[in-house]
Amino acid sequence: MEQRNSFFNIPIDLVSPNKNIVPVTTSVNNLGALTVGGCSIDDLIQNYGSPLYILDELTLRNSCKAYKKSLEKYYPGESLPIYASKANSSLFMSWLIQSEGFGLDAVSKGELITALKGGVVRENIVFHGNNKSDEELIFAINNNIKIVIDNDYDLVRLKRYANELDKRLEVMIRFTPGIECHTHEYIKTGSVDSKFGFGLDNLDRVFSETADIKNINVVGVHAHIGSQIFELAPHHDLAKIMVNSILKAKDYGHEIKELNVGGGLGIRYTNEDDPPSIDQWVKTVSNSVVEECEKFNLDLPKLMCEPGRSIVSTAGITVYTIGSFKDVPGVRTYISVDGGMSDNPRPITYQSTYSACLVRDPHNKQDIKKYTVAGKHCESGDVLFKELEIGKCESGDLLCVFGTGAYNSSMSSNYNRIPRPAGLVVSNGSAELIQKRESSEDLLKFDVLPDRFIR
Ligand SMILES: Cc1ncc(COP(=O)(O)O)c(C=O)c1O
Repeated sequence: MEQRNSFFNIPIDLVSPNKNIVPVTTSVNNLGALTVGGCSIDDLIQNYGSPLYILDELTLRNSCKAYKKSLEKYYPGESLPIYASKANSSLFMSWLIQSEGFGLDAVSKGELITALKGGVVRENIVFHGNNKSDEELIFAINNNIKIVIDNDYDLVRLKRYANELDKRLEVMIRFTPGIECHTHEYIKTGSVDSKFGFGLDNLDRVFSETADIKNINVVGVHAHIGSQIFELAPHHDLAKIMVNSILKAKDYGHEIKELNVGGGLGIRYTNEDDPPSIDQWVKTVSNSVVEECEKFNLDLPKLMCEPGRSIVSTAGITVYTIGSFKDVPGVRTYISVDGGMSDNPRPITYQSTYSACLVRDPHNKQDIKKYTVAGKHCESGDVLFKELEIGKCESGDLLCVFGTGAYNSSMSSNYNRIPRPAGLVVSNGSAELIQKRESSEDLLKFDVLPDRFIR
């Protein structure tokens, strides 16, 4: 146990995995090498190749259970945690979160199909998006999936489609509450200057326009203020603003039964990060909703939240093989790995930071050296770590990067025609494939060379 707890000098929190850097099952075997889910990472790479995405099932389940348990503990009304599938969408993730009693939020037909085929019940799916296509809207309507009206374009088309239906559609209204969060500008969505949702000054108009639309029931309000948030105050304030929007909706005859506060709870990528626990976050949101409802004598709505990163990020690791070295005397030593910005675009997009260690001998505190870890793509900015302190390493060594479960595989690309890595889930000493490795040939599947170019 001592070895487990010495990872990055932080004790492993089994209950709130977002406070850890590493998956809760991370350990070291009798050869001194890194294991996760009871599996030797060396063996996994030999069997499945490199680079490799790995998800630890226990960490995933502990994160889900923490949300469920805290909602039951602090919120006296009905509640439903919803997994934001943009964080990591797959049949496996859909199946896992529904088995833990979660719903799912989707923003495209692709994410919707993945959820449905993965076993998420349609009543627990919420469909978002600031520019849904007609095909996507009709797919959601036909499948009785709750649609979040994001803007007037949604509203106009829903009015038209609903008019022809012989059933009633349940919809939510998304608004931007005008809350600023100390997070990266590109992932801030709740401020006034956002492409998502109606501004608060439009709420009267929207509630009025939706009051008597044939076959449409406005059952909920939604907001999401950003991602990787460490402060609790914005979510406390958000919950209050949302309860007030329910009051406003009442003036127009809407009975709002559902309040969806979005996601946003941050995780610990590095030692410097210190996010609140899932329990603290849920307590803050729940208490705020309850207080505000009591103040206005409102029935408690069904409380929904949409965590993505805090469910899946810490459960995920990416393992790379170190290849070339380049020493720039007096400046830095580059080591290059067999992946990079195509499997993890966050460092180049958001300047995100991670933690990592060598798989062989992760506890080695001797021969520590600073390296710049570069990816293999044809882009100078393809750097995963500007400065990483690890033990002495050589070509062929494996590097394990932690906290890559969210917004890595889901944001991956084939830049430079690099095939995507395979994905595994590990648990109790066994590993199962959840995503096949792409091959270079796979990448040609959708290319077409018109006949006239073929000699
Ligand atoms: C509408 C909505 N809900 C939920 C989330 C999930 O946020 P997080 O992964 O920070 O929990 C996002 C992320 O951007 C979002 O846009």
